[in-house]
Amino acid sequence: MTKTLIAPSILAADFANLQRDIEMINSSTADWFHIDIMDGVFVPNISFGMPVLDAIVKHARKTIDVHLMIVDPDRYVKTFADLGAHNLTVHYEACTHLHRTLQAIRAEGMKAGVAVNPHTNIDLLEDTINDIDLVCLMSVNPGFGGQSFIENTYAKISKLKEMITRKGAATLIEIDGGVTDKNAKQLVDAGADVLVAGNFVFRSENPTQTIADLRRLLD
Ligand code: DX5
Ligand code: ZN
Repeated sequence: MTKTLIAPSILAADFANLQRDIEMINSSTADWFHIDIMDGVFVPNISFGMPVLDAIVKHARKTIDVHLMIVDPDRYVKTFADLGAHNLTVHYEACTHLHRTLQAIRAEGMKAGVAVNPHTNIDLLEDTINDIDLVCLMSVNPGFGGQSFIENTYAKISKLKEMITRKGAATLIEIDGGVTDKNAKQLVDAGADVLVAGNFVFRSENPTQTIADLRRLLD
């Protein structure tokens, strides 16, 4: 069994102490930095943009996993590559020519991710799954941290896992939204490879310890 990856979401960090929170993740047992970029159009919220990502990348020493919640993401593929993103995830619902977008992301040397909203049937990924390095299953409606987990996600994970195996793809399954120590094990048992956690990590008393405890729970 491969190791489950833990990706704390910077959206829940203290932006006035961003360097401190980045160093916390650097020295923790977490694996990735999950970075949520929101444009106020695709989702009803605006998070932060390029200058903040640039500052994060300067200090972060782990994989930079960028989750774009923006319309027409093709416009920014090169920009995010230049900024230092390792994974670039676009929303299925925001791409008219998804296959072309995935090719553009890989051509820039990044891993290509596709995020799917809770209402989107993952059967729609059947024809592109071999071109996708990472599927980000939204387990909340995108736009905000701290929402509660949607239970239907378990069924989606199993279905997606079956598709990936059947198609001989190497796609990772990432779960984003409402992840806690209460659902983490069940998510991994269902087939999740990467767990994003925002509020669960950053609102805890000791985030480093919370990440270590989550790691222990999953190993
Ligand atoms: C939601 C974002 C998530 C969010 C997760 O739109 O994509 O990555 O930061 O936060 P929690 O873990 O608090 O639900
Ligand atoms: Zn996210």
